[in-house]
Amino acid sequence: MELSLLTVCYLIGSLTFIIGLKMLSHPDSARKGNLVAAVGMTIAILGTIFLYEEEGKKLGNYSWIFGGLFLGTVIGVLAAKKVKMTAMPEMVSLFNGMGGACAALISVNEFGHISKMLTVSTADIPGWHTTIIVSPEESVNMIGMVITIFLGLIIGTVSFAGSMIAWGKLNGKVKDFAFPGQQVFNLILLAGTLITAGYLAFNLTANNVILFYIIAIASLIYGVLFVLPIGGADMPVVISLLNSFTGVAAACGGFLYDNQVMLTGGILVGAAGTLLTILMCKAMNRSLTNVLIGSFGGNKSSASAAQTGPQGNYKEISLSDAAVCMCYANKVIIVPGYGLAVAQAQHVCHELEKLLEEKGVNVSYAIHPVAGRMPGHMNVLLAEADVSYDKLQEMEQANDEFKTTDVVLVLGANDVVNPAAKTDASSPIYGMPILEVEQAKTVIVNKRSMKPGYAGIENELFFQPKTSMLFGDAKAALQKLVAEIKSL
Ligand code: TAP
Repeated sequence: MELSLLTVCYLIGSLTFIIGLKMLSHPDSARKGNLVAAVGMTIAILGTIFLYEEEGKKLGNYSWIFGGLFLGTVIGVLAAKKVKMTAMPEMVSLFNGMGGACAALISVNEFGHISKMLTVSTADIPGWHTTIIVSPEESVNMIGMVITIFLGLIIGTVSFAGSMIAWGKLNGKVKDFAFPGQQVFNLILLAGTLITAGYLAFNLTANNVILFYIIAIASLIYGVLFVLPIGGADMPVVISLLNSFTGVAAACGGFLYDNQVMLTGGILVGAAGTLLTILMCKAMNRSLTNVLIGSFGGNKSSASAAQTGPQGNYKEISLSDAAVCMCYANKVIIVPGYGLAVAQAQHVCHELEKLLEEKGVNVSYAIHPVAGRMPGHMNVLLAEADVSYDKLQEMEQANDEFKTTDVVLVLGANDVVNPAAKTDASSPIYGMPILEVEQAKTVIVNKRSMKPGYAGIENELFFQPKTSMLFGDAKAALQKLVAEIKSL
């Protein structure tokens, strides 16, 4: 009776997770989706705590369980309330690392049970499963279980260690580090770890149990060395990849405990993380290997662009000219980028939009899929400032609109509007789909200097006759622009 109620709890948990994930795919329903999945997961957790039984015994340990839940809830709520939008990838990375660590600890715990069985059985005989298990089916099950334990341990540990390094890199505490032959060393380390795990799964004895812990340490080192050389700005892609690792590691836990909700959740997180990684790579026109080995986004390319310096002449526009130009336009499209996020200029940007609309100008936003530094960065930022979702245009739609647009205002965006992606086959961003803002009648670019963006390359858009530069911090420049428009 109780078991079936527990199964119902797991079913609710799994269903709400799927429904929640679906709702997350649209900004209008995203908040509710998050809530739906969280409620379902709470039901599954409470079901496990109060209904789960093993050999007629309930879990017990309630003070430990609720103590941990309370502590985790307080830390989670405080962290989520305090985090700045620009530090979001950092927080995601930290939380993802905790998920990986949990999955690895499940493996450590389960392996503890198995090693206890070994010491009470005929220990040192190879083919351990035949010595402690009676039937052949049980023997096969046991090997499957141990393989799952190893997978959970390796993937979870790599995800934990990698996420911690990614977190350190994003907050500037960990610097890029590589040594000659590191890729080869990493490959050998990974292969050695997997081969040892494979060997141990079939030849476990009380004497070689120590190899399990060596595998754990090797995975930890691999996770660190795998992420250390990757350029800091490539971290969102790496975090998304590690996120999918955590999902797979959690699914291993679900398999071990025969827990449907953990299995469903893990598989969904694993699949979603993999898809997101692929989508990000596609939107940057880079292969995953290219991101992991890091051919741009690191310090190297920025340095070379800084050496070449700005090419050609550019013209500046005054605040009053920019104000007049926008006020008398029929259609204005705003292109937000990383600089808008850094300056936290989303609120004043929304104010500018409302002001222009009051003057009869049709204003919308063009959103590039990898504008900023994390997936959906611009959408989240603009939503925070209450910009209506109807005003956001995806790249393909915006590219059709630019031809009939009077003014494009580029706010702290650079690579995502760089025409070299279409015209210069030697450019590192060649082939990356971009917002074709140069099709509009006039382009106003706001940034602080002529310095390059994330890819570290020059942008010919800034030197085109229809482009004018409005230098300054995005927030300060927009505040002055708003004041100027009000005075017109
Ligand atoms: P970027 O190409 O990085 O350009 C941002 C520009 O903002 C810079 O040129 C900078 O110029 C300017 N800026 C910085 N602070 C500013 C401030 N306070 N006020 C005004 N301007 C400021 O950004 P983007 O066009 O959004 O492109 C995103 C890049 O990140 C792409 O190359 C993309 O591939 C990469 N990336 C994105 C993601 C995701 S998922 N979004 C993940 C990994 C990598 P100044 O220094 O002259 O001001």
